[in-house]
Amino acid sequence: MIPATGGFTNMGAGDSLTAWRHGRITTLHGPDGWDPKEAWSVLTRGEIIVWLGPDHQLPKELRHAIEFEHNLAGKLLTPGLIDCHTHLVYGGKRDAEFEMRLSGVGYEEIARAGGGIRSTVAATRAASRADLLGKACQRARRLQNTGVTTIEIKSGYGLDYDTETVCLEVARQVGNECGLSVVTTCLSAHTVPSEFSDNADAYVDLVCDWLPHWKAQGLIDAVDAFCDTVGFSLEQTRRVFESAVRLGLPIKCHAEQLSLQGGAALAASYGALSCDHLEYLDDVGIAAMRASGTVAVLLPGAYYTLKQTTPPPVAKLRQAGIRVAVATDHNPGSSPLLSLPLAGNMACTLFGLTPQEAWAGMTTNAAAALGLTDRGRLQPGLRAHFACWELEHPREVVYWLN
Ligand code: NIG
Ligand code: FE
Repeated sequence: MIPATGGFTNMGAGDSLTAWRHGRITTLHGPDGWDPKEAWSVLTRGEIIVWLGPDHQLPKELRHAIEFEHNLAGKLLTPGLIDCHTHLVYGGKRDAEFEMRLSGVGYEEIARAGGGIRSTVAATRAASRADLLGKACQRARRLQNTGVTTIEIKSGYGLDYDTETVCLEVARQVGNECGLSVVTTCLSAHTVPSEFSDNADAYVDLVCDWLPHWKAQGLIDAVDAFCDTVGFSLEQTRRVFESAVRLGLPIKCHAEQLSLQGGAALAASYGALSCDHLEYLDDVGIAAMRASGTVAVLLPGAYYTLKQTTPPPVAKLRQAGIRVAVATDHNPGSSPLLSLPLAGNMACTLFGLTPQEAWAGMTTNAAAALGLTDRGRLQPGLRAHFACWELEHPREVVYWLN
């Protein structure tokens, strides 16, 4: 089924040969992959693209083998968008905190007083599995309606073994229920839970002990840590990364969001897939990320919500040839945002990305931030993950404030 607008995949379609005819297609593949091609078709076998090109050039032998045919009727077809940084599974909401921040109380101040992430931890621990799943699916469908087909979901609002496990299981279930591809990341090192206030190191020990269990259960694809004064110190972050690397799990890092801590250089020294936020990234961090091929994930939703004024060093990232991704960072505190195109728009307006850079950031580079190479462009051999738009040009996707 093709939605009027939004992301869709051919997951679960068996091995049948399906044609998607008469589209305006932006492949994002190669130098002329940006401007849409009129009257093109895509052929998929199961979840894989097997051919794409002008309608009239469809090879005869393939034409005769087509089992299902969909008419795109001139709509714009692009690669499905990839939201490579979300905290989609949580209980409660933080509208009261929003009001407090508007009256002048700072995000870090609220966190230090036991609010912020910790208040969502309390709400998540109190929520039922069914409630967590229901709400996460609602959010995932909202993202899907904005063109998303792959979502990364982090844990990090349970902060005890049982609740973190439930959140990771729920994250996996979201994928099945919503027909989305889901990548899960362990962010148990999100903040120190209140019961460990006086002993953050003991909590880090526990997180390191939990990782092998989740790895064995196939519940985590990567490990993240929030390296900041309201998160974890450089040394504590290092211990989490050491444990992850020993298990062969890739690393990601919430780094240099509120202040410069050196988390980006540390994560890069472990070959991190991505460093995320990066408002306070310095030249040392940039050099380290460049050397390790780490993707810079920009999160303008959090920058906007927290009314930050120091944008990430986009010109220097560009100059260093570091791949830049853009994500929603959906979470109830710093980024209650459920539109990836709007994050793309903000990355252009607030951070100075070009629309093409924003698109690369929501597709190929977002895939790289998740260690995926099989999506993000429309190309034979890659996955049949699409987004359909009642728009003429991909530029429009980041132009409209949706
Ligand atoms: O990515 N920076 C840390 N973590 C989240 C915010 C979490 C929260 O405020 O609940 C982020 O912005
Ligand atoms: Fe985040």
